Amino acid sequence: MSTIPREKRHVEQQQRLLLPICSTGSRIKRTKSPSSMPQTRPKVDENGSMTRSLKQTYSVIPAFDYVTKLLTLVLDLFVESKCDDEDLIMSNILEVKTSSPDYVGQDPEEAARDFRDRIRNYEKVYQTIDESEKHLTYVKIINIGARTVINLIQDYLQSRLVYYLTNLHIKPRSIWLSRHGESEYNLEGKIGGDANISERGDRYARLLPELVKRSGLPKDAPLTIWTSTLRRTSQTAQYLVKELGWEKLQWKALDELDSGVCDGMTYQEIADKYPEDFQARDDDKYNYRYRGGESYRDVVIRLEPIIMELERSENIIIITHQAIVRCIYAYFMEIPQEKSPWMEVPLHTLMKLTPKAYGTQVDKYKADIPAVSTWRPKGSTAKHHDSVSEGVPEVRVGDKTSQKSEPPPMTGLPLP
Ligand code: G3H
Repeated sequence: MSTIPREKRHVEQQQRLLLPICSTGSRIKRTKSPSSMPQTRPKVDENGSMTRSLKQTYSVIPAFDYVTKLLTLVLDLFVESKCDDEDLIMSNILEVKTSSPDYVGQDPEEAARDFRDRIRNYEKVYQTIDESEKHLTYVKIINIGARTVINLIQDYLQSRLVYYLTNLHIKPRSIWLSRHGESEYNLEGKIGGDANISERGDRYARLLPELVKRSGLPKDAPLTIWTSTLRRTSQTAQYLVKELGWEKLQWKALDELDSGVCDGMTYQEIADKYPEDFQARDDDKYNYRYRGGESYRDVVIRLEPIIMELERSENIIIITHQAIVRCIYAYFMEIPQEKSPWMEVPLHTLMKLTPKAYGTQVDKYKADIPAVSTWRPKGSTAKHHDSVSEGVPEVRVGDKTSQKSEPPPMTGLPLP
């Protein structure tokens, strides 16, 4: 954290000047940020402190030299993504004109023309970081990683950011996310443990290959399956492996949040035995760490290699646990940390996340197989029954719903 009270009153204005590079043809947007490092664009709290985070890459504009100075002060790092490859620029225009909130309902050709005009305007004020500027700490990514120049990287966070940025790609891909099928512990309302899946959980596992196929598979691009090391996720993935022949990898980092001394207990038992802990967790679920176990914050940190690897990879299907699904989903959907631990992630539901230039598209496929889940709202200790459509045959794939994350605000740079 850097304290910059003097600039505080200008922050709103400055944030508007931090131009997402996707808005320019010569600078293609890189969309994602790692969870345990950058989560959001730089924010200033009431004390005037700015978190060292990086939401997107920003262009360097001479007219706003003070912004670049501010970025140097706060992030200690310039990030430039420069693109002069016409094919890449064209594919970016195609992507932007179909997905930018600026062009909703507009004629695609008109949108493309407008976007071209923007590029021309931005080019008038664009100032690249000169490689002779040896005193600056920067990473310069040319043509989406065809060439990368790094200079004066000095600390751990900077090097992680560079590693992250150099592993991003913009190839179309999706990530499929699911909790394991209902487990025997779920039926009893117990958390943690290493139980087998129930008979209904097995029905979901058998249906999963069909759900994945119906969600639309990429042509000629095999999926890799990632599970945790716990039985219920491997058992849920078994028919995907058998029927579709995809490779399966187990990650310890995908194991469920460790509930320490509360492992194997129901929420009611926890509330009875550790009432203060139960309340403390409700008060700040993201930061509360179970005695001998983990907090959501701990989980986010251990997921860093998963996020890094996900960004490097193309099509991955992840079968994991509720807390882990929440953290991965929150990363892609930019859900704030005070909300993410409370999200309801129903069992027997497959989500397909498709990162786009302006937010991540989510398609949900719900199997009509009832389940008892460990989800609970604040204050409750009751077991949760996931709802299903009444009277629908279980082999039918549930409704597909589609939603988009809130697009990042289109922050306007005053044009010359
Ligand atoms: O088994 C534990 C849950 O999956 C995590 O849920 O963090 O809402 O208690 P919770």
